[in-house]
Amino acid sequence: MTTPHDVAALRAREYAWMANDPAIFLNAASVGPMPASAVDVANTWSRMRAQPHRLPFERMLDAAATARAQFAALVGADADEIALMPNTTYGLNLAARALPLRPGTILTFDGEFPSCVYPFQALGSRGINLELIPRRHGLPDEDALVAAIARPEVVAVVVSWVQFATGYVADLARIGAACREHGVFFIVDGIQGCGVRPIDLHALPIDIFASGAQKWQLSPWGTGFVYVRRALVTALDPIDVGWACMKTSTDYTRLTEYDFDFFDDARRFEVVTLAYQDFAIANASTRILLDIGVDAVAAHITSLGSRIVEWAQARADVRLVTPADPARRAGVISFSSDSLHDMASRLDAAQVVHTVREGAIRLSPHCYNTGAEIERVLEILDN
Ligand SMILES: Cc1ncc(COP(=O)(O)O)c(C=O)c1O
Repeated sequence: MTTPHDVAALRAREYAWMANDPAIFLNAASVGPMPASAVDVANTWSRMRAQPHRLPFERMLDAAATARAQFAALVGADADEIALMPNTTYGLNLAARALPLRPGTILTFDGEFPSCVYPFQALGSRGINLELIPRRHGLPDEDALVAAIARPEVVAVVVSWVQFATGYVADLARIGAACREHGVFFIVDGIQGCGVRPIDLHALPIDIFASGAQKWQLSPWGTGFVYVRRALVTALDPIDVGWACMKTSTDYTRLTEYDFDFFDDARRFEVVTLAYQDFAIANASTRILLDIGVDAVAAHITSLGSRIVEWAQARADVRLVTPADPARRAGVISFSSDSLHDMASRLDAAQVVHTVREGAIRLSPHCYNTGAEIERVLEILDN
């Protein structure tokens, strides 16, 4: 059984400012607030960075190794299948350009964040086109996608795990199984679910899974990772080639041997000097999620989301965009209304941090939010 998450203790320890700040932060789907222990690491590393001779090389390598291990732990992968990346999109570009895709069609859902679109639209000169599966009642049409995967010209599928605007959670096992059956690559943008919803990548037929850490993983901008399925790691060549892809990069006495020998693990996709400081900070943030437990975080945000869902369903003038079924939603809850602008203005006036995406108000509670905050927000929306 999942141990219930102690929000009060987390807030006291990591988000003390929330007790005195009138703002209610419900916007992890845009950017996650860094916890106090991550801010401490940032300060420590900034001081060391001001005197780089106080910052041993081993500590930098250790920050990177820990980041790979902790990202891997969040998604049920091994550290050697993880390459550190500055964001989601770079990992998706790796998928677009490193996978051996023959000319044909890549499928995605209409309504995806552009990171699932542009890197694949860019493959036109290779005879590869991107097809958008039309929405059904405003949501991804998974039946249509699965049916389309059987078409012989389909070479890959790319979807986000949790959609940025609708909050819809894709059935990765079902889509992946159809991809496997038809010899089609399966690529996932994981940023809106990673860290707040359990996933076991080893148990799923996913080839490449990319996530930035700046949102739900409460980490600095410029941090993230890409998972490459083990069997593909050494089969794929990096799309950009730099000194850091090579085995010699950890031994500064061998740099000018120019030994063109990629790492045998996913580090081969890390091209340049890493943002060690930012990954050290990210490690403090992901440590918190791992310590709470992704299951417990998921249970917490699902229960906060359920309250918003109940409220939306009870109001005749509000249309829930996100599926009501808890299996089909994570932290993103969106709803629209004819009085959307009025509602958004009231949220702004009351300092409820939210966003409006694709004509809907998007609330995205995380592990630090309380049931009382959600009740307060619903009260503001009602008045
Ligand atoms: C689904 C999705 N993918 C990607 C991104 C961002 O991409 P990146 O991390 O490359 O900036 C966002 C949000 O900004 C998103 O919601």
